[in-house]
Amino acid sequence: MKRKIIIGNWKMNPNTGKVASKWFQEAARLVSRSKKTEIVICPPFIYLDNLSRIRTSKIKLGAQDTFAENPPAGGGPFTGEVSSEMLYNLGVGYVILGHSERRAFGENNQIVNKKIKGALSAGLRPIVCVGEEERDESHKYFDIVKKQVKECLAGISRDSFHKIILAYEPIWSISTTKARRDAVPDDSREMAVFIRKTLSDITTPAIANKVRILYGGSVNERDAEGFLRDGRVDGVLVGQASLSVEKFIEIVRICEALKN
Ligand code: PGA
Repeated sequence: MKRKIIIGNWKMNPNTGKVASKWFQEAARLVSRSKKTEIVICPPFIYLDNLSRIRTSKIKLGAQDTFAENPPAGGGPFTGEVSSEMLYNLGVGYVILGHSERRAFGENNQIVNKKIKGALSAGLRPIVCVGEEERDESHKYFDIVKKQVKECLAGISRDSFHKIILAYEPIWSISTTKARRDAVPDDSREMAVFIRKTLSDITTPAIANKVRILYGGSVNERDAEGFLRDGRVDGVLVGQASLSVEKFIEIVRICEALKN
């Protein structure tokens, strides 16, 4: 059985390090007795250093992006970039890659693929986001997600697959999408099964089974239980609701209370 994982993606929030530290300290206190759930918070880069100094064995840190290459000397002339090695050296364990909000800036599957390879070789666990913009009646969205999975994971060594987390985030359900719609556990289940099959086709069923698949897209404390119980996923990636420590902790609590 894979361990369930709850990931908070703070996106470009909050506005001050003070608020970030207060959130983190409070959450660390509230989850100190959690047993089953892996908890990861992905704040903006600039808060990672401070948050890594707050003592907790329960909450791990993730970044929201990384540089696509690992320069041989560990650093290099890449203004504005942060390398996977720098993140790893700070104690960061995870990195969100291929988020639709970054893809909207022009990031494509090939760039995501490079970033995944760089992250893995530096010792980070990539949280790879895939998901369609719309659900069309001819079901082309399956092809879109299959292409994303295949191209993002092209050339990744089979030994590394167990470190990869795939987050299915349909853009039409993300909180910041205009005229968004709610997804339901059936949407998540259907796609999680399809992604697992795609992974199986590019590796083996046993390897595909080791990859954790998450659902993300406006998950909150009211609907998290449905996704976690009936969505065939190994966890959830939470954006908006992770900005509230109470809501996020409630989602962790729901996960802890699940039977399996
Ligand atoms: P949301 O964001 O929960 O606010 O929809 C999820 C994400 O974009 O990672």
